[in-house]
Amino acid sequence: MQQDATPLLPRHIGIIMDGNGRWAKRRSLPRSAGHRQGARTFRTISRYCRDIGIEYLTVYAFSTENWKRPQEEIDAIMNLLRDYLNELERHSDEDEGVLRFIGDTAPLAEDLRLRIDEVQARTAGRPGITVNIALNYGGRAEIVRAVQRAAELAVSGEISPDAVDEALVNSLLYTAGQPPVDLIIRPSGEQRLSNFMLWQGAYAELVFMDVLWPDFAPADLDRALEEYQRRSRRFGGIGS
Ligand code: IPE
Ligand code: IPE
Ligand code: MG
Repeated sequence: MQQDATPLLPRHIGIIMDGNGRWAKRRSLPRSAGHRQGARTFRTISRYCRDIGIEYLTVYAFSTENWKRPQEEIDAIMNLLRDYLNELERHSDEDEGVLRFIGDTAPLAEDLRLRIDEVQARTAGRPGITVNIALNYGGRAEIVRAVQRAAELAVSGEISPDAVDEALVNSLLYTAGQPPVDLIIRPSGEQRLSNFMLWQGAYAELVFMDVLWPDFAPADLDRALEEYQRRSRRFGGIGS
């Protein structure tokens, strides 16, 4: 990116990492090969976002609906996650910023949960980028969880029901304390959110791209950022 474009960078980017299966199919490879290449792309793009100064990156890795897939494919995705967590354990680099997992990790295998807890604790408070990996994440489930927590606070008398406002709901989401999503990028040609960041993306600019995620390169991120910079964000106002 050009240096003079920096002030226009989104603070928070969301990416729906889609198209792994189609990438593999085109090469007559098993779907797991697409997920493997997609995991490589994630490493490249998260480093690139860090290098250009993005503060928050949220990537959609596995949705609450993705459990509908064949067990073999789910296992392949979980094994790629295991490889990534092992790799992080071996090369811990302060520059890599904060890593968080958003979504319900309870149904995951115990070794994964322990590694997730460990990496979150180890990277917390680091300077630089925060990367959220959305895993067993769904925007609706996230909002339901926040509503349940707000109801518990009201029932226990800690708050009155009219204290439930946007700020309180924000504070009960997985992304508590983070800014809203400015830009959501979806590669693969699909034009939908598929339950991603429904609350946080209320005013996000949406950029849909024809490239498949395993082929997504830093130049594609640049293209999405250029598109973002051409948009006029009004937030319901009349703009400048
Ligand atoms: C995205 O790629 C990865 C996950 C949903 C886990 P897909 O596996 O959905 O790839 P397509 O959409 O079938 O090409
Ligand atoms: C969204 O992609 C979820 C992830 C990329 C993790 P899907 O491939 O699951 O979404 P749909 O089924 O095309 O809407
Ligand atoms: Mg898909």
